[in-house]
Amino acid sequence: MSHITIQGGRRLEGALTVQGAKNSVLPILAATILHPGRTVLRGCPRLSDVEASIRILRHLGCLAGWEGEELVVDTGPMSRGDIPDHLMREMRSSVIFLGAILARLGWAEMSYPGGCELGPRPIDLHLAALRQLGAELKEEGGRLLCGARRMTGREIALSLPSVGATENAILAACGAEGETILFNAAREPEIADLQDFLCAMGCKVRGAGSSTVCVMGRQSTHDAVHTVMPDRIAAATYLSAVAAAGGQVELLGVDYRHLSTVTAALHAAGCQITGGEGRISLRSDGALRSAGTVRTAPYPGFPTDAQAVVMAALLRSQGATVFVENIFENRYRHVDELRRMGADISVADRVAVVTGVPRLFGADVRATDLRGGAALLVAGLAAKGTTRIGDIYHIQRGYADPVGDLRALGAEISLEED
Ligand code: EPZ
Repeated sequence: MSHITIQGGRRLEGALTVQGAKNSVLPILAATILHPGRTVLRGCPRLSDVEASIRILRHLGCLAGWEGEELVVDTGPMSRGDIPDHLMREMRSSVIFLGAILARLGWAEMSYPGGCELGPRPIDLHLAALRQLGAELKEEGGRLLCGARRMTGREIALSLPSVGATENAILAACGAEGETILFNAAREPEIADLQDFLCAMGCKVRGAGSSTVCVMGRQSTHDAVHTVMPDRIAAATYLSAVAAAGGQVELLGVDYRHLSTVTAALHAAGCQITGGEGRISLRSDGALRSAGTVRTAPYPGFPTDAQAVVMAALLRSQGATVFVENIFENRYRHVDELRRMGADISVADRVAVVTGVPRLFGADVRATDLRGGAALLVAGLAAKGTTRIGDIYHIQRGYADPVGDLRALGAEISLEED
């Protein structure tokens, strides 16, 4: 096992090109199944979740692998539609393969994705959408058995704008006869990136990024090349790191409009932020103030994935900031670890109140989940002394090279074997 060690208290300064978006490339890798041919993905981040998706594609009979910095997939040889339990357990978001496999083969089988660190992760909206398209789904002994001799496009209204359910419905609708109109779709930018990829492959999808997405199914598809959009949550993480430690950073490749609620919170806390074409700059003296109340919500609201890292940035601020986590039931697991570093945080159900303290202290801590682990990186950079972060496999699911990125900004940080 390995861990990350940080000597905190140093100002950060420099420029970073932001990695490709995990939450865009995962549905796109599932979408490659819709075309029995070759896909080239550029700007794809080297993440453990991406490697898990590659293993699923290979299990299905596809060819998938890196050719230099490009991830190349050929689903021509695809020969099966089942995902075994051990591959589902590696990455619960593998449920995103369901709609694409159904569209390609007319059947699919996978183990019921369990919950995760964030709490139960129901998929009822995914299954309801697929049933409305004509799929027959049943659960036997923890396995989800799906059949769809033929799917027919129709109007579908999601009861809440679930990102995964939106993506699964779009991918399944690409295999359905006629038009599907999806109402109350999630509006996250990653869904617009998925639409761009699907259209590059010959599919007919429009409206992604708005609440209404239209798909004209069963189009002829062709090989495609696509560059994955930048990761707005990784960008939020690095902005939070510089806000916490003090210094200045220019993030390149990221669309500042995708982060407006995060930059608004950091600006309220006292950071100077400017956004331009493909770039965001932040300057902080490290002495922040309260950001008021931060409520997570579906896009374009404040992203739940940025809650932990922005919380970590505010631990030494003057005053108190209130966080209200409206998306997941159990997304404050990082709080106990931050308390070990001297943070003053009180939690009651979905509300966390962060009262700024004069200083944080380096400590031995453990990542509890992907974004909670990223919050420990942010806090360790602002803390006096040495912070040692264990269970960093959580962090490696979503960050390609956090140690290299932060070291490039002047952090004293290293990845070490236990
Ligand atoms: C995606 O998860 C992201 N993952 C998450 O990022 C992100 O936090 C989340 O969207 C919200 O933005 C990927 O894209 C791979 P949801 P997803 O369906 O699709 C409930 C990270 O850190 N719900 O929008 O699972 C659900 O319980 C990860 O990168 C149902 O009730 O999120 C949750 O409370 C974490 N029934 C809410 O909706 C369903 O069928 C939002 O979930 C589906 C969801």
